[in-house]
Amino acid sequence: MNLLVDLFGYLSILLHALTVTAQSVMLGALLFLLLLARPLAPQLLPGESILRGAARIVRIAALALLLCEGLMIALQTAVLSSTVELPVSNVLQADFALAGMAKMAAALAIAVLVGRRVPDALLLLLGLAELAAATLTTHAQARLDHRLPLLLVEGLHQLGAAIWIGGLPCFLLALSQVRDGVGWRLVGRRYSLMSMAGVACIVLSGLAMSVAYIGSWQGFYGTAYGVMVGAKVAMFLLLLGLGAGNYRLVERLRADPRTPVNRLRRFAEAEFAIGLCIFFAAASLTSAPPAVDLVQDRVSLHEIAQRNMPVWPRLASPEHDALALSRLQKQLDDEAARRAQQPAPAYVPGSGVAPPSSAADIAWSEYNHHWAGVFVLAIGLLALLNGLGWRAARHWPLLFLGLAVFLFIRSDPEAWPLGPIGFFASLRDVEIFQHRVFVLLIVVFGLFEWRVRAGGLAPTRAAWVFPLLTIAGGALLLTHTHTIANVKDQLLIELTHTPLALLGILGGVARWLELRLEPPGSRIVGLVWPISFVLIGLILLNYREA
Ligand code: HEM
Repeated sequence: MNLLVDLFGYLSILLHALTVTAQSVMLGALLFLLLLARPLAPQLLPGESILRGAARIVRIAALALLLCEGLMIALQTAVLSSTVELPVSNVLQADFALAGMAKMAAALAIAVLVGRRVPDALLLLLGLAELAAATLTTHAQARLDHRLPLLLVEGLHQLGAAIWIGGLPCFLLALSQVRDGVGWRLVGRRYSLMSMAGVACIVLSGLAMSVAYIGSWQGFYGTAYGVMVGAKVAMFLLLLGLGAGNYRLVERLRADPRTPVNRLRRFAEAEFAIGLCIFFAAASLTSAPPAVDLVQDRVSLHEIAQRNMPVWPRLASPEHDALALSRLQKQLDDEAARRAQQPAPAYVPGSGVAPPSSAADIAWSEYNHHWAGVFVLAIGLLALLNGLGWRAARHWPLLFLGLAVFLFIRSDPEAWPLGPIGFFASLRDVEIFQHRVFVLLIVVFGLFEWRVRAGGLAPTRAAWVFPLLTIAGGALLLTHTHTIANVKDQLLIELTHTPLALLGILGGVARWLELRLEPPGSRIVGLVWPISFVLIGLILLNYREA
């Protein structure tokens, strides 16, 4: 169990992201049902089926929240009771467990009651109870000063996220069921107003929390917490751009109900995808100490500039034997041989003890990132040329398979196939686990996209795999952790990975819109994603760890 604590720590961030997503969709769908679907039902042809569909989304999200929160409590209880040897009954009386159980009770009640003849006020009260319990597991609960106002601000923030992002699945459902311009205008107008209220909640509370938890510009760029809020702000601005595009289209619909609404739906799909990525960033954010609490070990602008100064990429690799772990293992092997004993392992994945590192390890990792940069740069350029009409370049997705093999062999030299640690044992190390997941993602979307482009697969839903997995890869990269003891070095690496994650999300969303929009919109976004891959390649080529 102790060897799984690191992995559990990482899995709890992913689970928290899913919990926040389920909560936002449940509350968002509930508000959509009560503030849009029900009041507008008499004026909408498929009014009843939109009502039933929205209630179904509330129920599914409530049950998903119940499941995620239950798993979260189980995971945290297992880790706590095994690491601090406390009886489970004691751990279940902790604040996080009580708040979690309150969320589960409210979610269960909502799942049972939604769609039945119950007063709206009761459903709203249950939603409010769930939201209140959710704020009790945020940083605000741990603050000594201004706890109540911060709890209210956290609640406002999560409410804003639910109204705007959480309501999108219902909005998409309504748009897909309505068949006339008048109906689209009604739904679009009401949802635009609700989204604006959501945006206002998010911005006001986001700024208040940034002042309370970050407190200075240096806290913003010099701490992991600040950088993650920065990533959220970047995605928020992208969302605002899409939201503004939809607002303008709804205004056109008001003037002319014959206005085509395909873009409204496709932008809403893209908004939801980016919103999901923000939930992953938020989950990663809440697992980091607020910037105001990290006054030491902050990174300065000078250190950031120095680390990102362009240098010629490292295209030659150090020997595997020169790596710190290989040398330590050799020492231990020689010693054990002298004593005719079984050699001790130099590193045990999941033990919580970071593996040794040296200049050779840094060179090895830089070499990996630089060659990965060469691969991704080539992919971006060939995809661009293919998009501009060079047919022979259509096989560019095959380069992803080359990249996957390269990363599988070289990402983790301490583990199989290059190192002594077995494949399955190595998965206890969070960083190795994440690298293996990334390799798998790259193989799947590389193969699918190649089959789509080379003509083996019709460009139908199969073509969705590449953009969706690219977005997922970007979201996972936002939660990527490094087992590096030095906080500063860890942040300097994160400062490189965060733009890679954001460009991955942008590229995936742009490819999705290329598939779903009509020209000329599809042609414009069709240039955005290859360019984002070119930029990812260039950032990787300048990646440094020292
Ligand atoms: C659509 C945009 C956004 C969404 C959907 C969103 C969503 C969320 C969610 C769900 C959380 C709570 C996570 C948790 O405690 O479980 C959160 C936390 C946070 N958000 Fe946002 N957010 C958005 C934009 C922003 C913006 C623009 C800012 C800054 C100006 C911001 C600042 C923060 C901060 C500081 C926290 C952490 C609170 C803490 O440490 O407990 N967010 N966000």
